[in-house]
Amino acid sequence: MAKLKGFTCSVCGATYPRWAGKCDACGSWNSILEEAPLSAGPKPTAKGRTIPITDLATEEAPPPRAGSGIGELDRVLGGGLVPASAILVGGDPGIGKSTLLLQAAASFARNGLKCLYISGEEAAAQVRMRAQRLGLQSAPVGLGAETNLRDILTTLDAERPALAIIDSIQTMWLDNVESAPGSVSQVRAAAHELVTFAKRRGVAVVIVGHVTKEGAIAGPRVLEHMVDTVLYFEGERGHQFRILRAVKNRFGPADEIGVFEMTGDGLSEVLNPSALFLSDREAATPGSAVFAGIEGTRPVLTEVQALVAPSNLGTPRRTVVGIDSGRLGTILAVLEARCGIPFTGLDVFLNVAGGMRISEPAADLAIAAALLSAREDVAIPPDMVLFGEISLSGALRPVGQTENRLKEAAKLGFSQATLPSRSKAGQAEGMNLREMADLTAFVGEMFGAG
Ligand code: TYD
Ligand code: MG
Repeated sequence: MAKLKGFTCSVCGATYPRWAGKCDACGSWNSILEEAPLSAGPKPTAKGRTIPITDLATEEAPPPRAGSGIGELDRVLGGGLVPASAILVGGDPGIGKSTLLLQAAASFARNGLKCLYISGEEAAAQVRMRAQRLGLQSAPVGLGAETNLRDILTTLDAERPALAIIDSIQTMWLDNVESAPGSVSQVRAAAHELVTFAKRRGVAVVIVGHVTKEGAIAGPRVLEHMVDTVLYFEGERGHQFRILRAVKNRFGPADEIGVFEMTGDGLSEVLNPSALFLSDREAATPGSAVFAGIEGTRPVLTEVQALVAPSNLGTPRRTVVGIDSGRLGTILAVLEARCGIPFTGLDVFLNVAGGMRISEPAADLAIAAALLSAREDVAIPPDMVLFGEISLSGALRPVGQTENRLKEAAKLGFSQATLPSRSKAGQAEGMNLREMADLTAFVGEMFGAG
């Protein structure tokens, strides 16, 4: 059988026929590694088997989903665990993936699902210790400590659990792949085996993957399209909040989030994230704006904070946490070009409170408001929420789910909202709506003529 030698970027998974110092695809340096030779695949046989073909309308009951009883987790999964699905849970080392999945395994097991937790990182005694600390020692979860994937698959085949958790993919190795555990080829081959096993045997498999510094799941993005569902577990080190985010889900909405809090006895659900994200808010400080956002199917209110200060650098600082820095650049440019408010010579710091990350364009208006409020040293009314997308012309564009945003704001005691005109506000009881056509009108109304 012909063997093809290859080199693969360990960050983005791009392949090269020969080694190079820099990956042209993602721009990383020194990330290209030699992969174990790939087999060219089996020789085509003269005649293949015919596979059964059914039509789309064939009546088959949708697979029943299994609930864990942890509401935040079930929602992110799209309403519970789908049998025979492969789920990737990625996150920084130490963020709490093992804790979350041990708790999930215990909950599923208590609901009658047969669960196996295979740890390649910790000894069984260590996992048991953690379970004791979490008060889960009585949950009927099968425990294994192994890194040889062949042995694990044999065990899973014999045990036939409904759910198997593999913690983590970086520690697993297959004997027919030459490179070390954690290398691109091992991770890819091991994940492929697990995903195939999940589909063939009807076992839901959760694969834990550590994320590299660059933010890709180490042994790289290739994993993301092999699995059905990709969940990221994120949070700031200094904060106790953890957010489980579905970035891909074949069985539910993507962008759904579950919010947890890391406590002394494990992760606990946060049922009202808006209240949590706003809990440390000081009343009416300049530079603070409350954004009424939507995460997945749920409205979530967050505080955007800005600080603007004279810079002594040639190129002033633009520091952002929780928002795309390109978006900040665009908003600053629109403020300057359309409203005549320059930020040259000023350092700008922008931050989403509580360790949230906002990717919705609807946050534009709240970002602009925080920036202006910081620059002008004028506080935004503390009972006001803002949302709306800013176009390059400076116009405000309506965004989706206006009614839900307003309802959540009203529920949390806000009484005014600034939003784009032509928004479908529906019934927003108790909310005083200020609809604005463009950013200039907003600046004029909030901060005088600007
Ligand atoms: P862990 O689940 O081991 O992280 P990962 O598997 O993602 O690497 O979580 C480890 C961190 O969680 C560790 O810093 C301690 C903290 N922790 C708590 O605060 N409370 C707890 O009850 C547990 C089990 C862990
Ligand atoms: Mg772990």
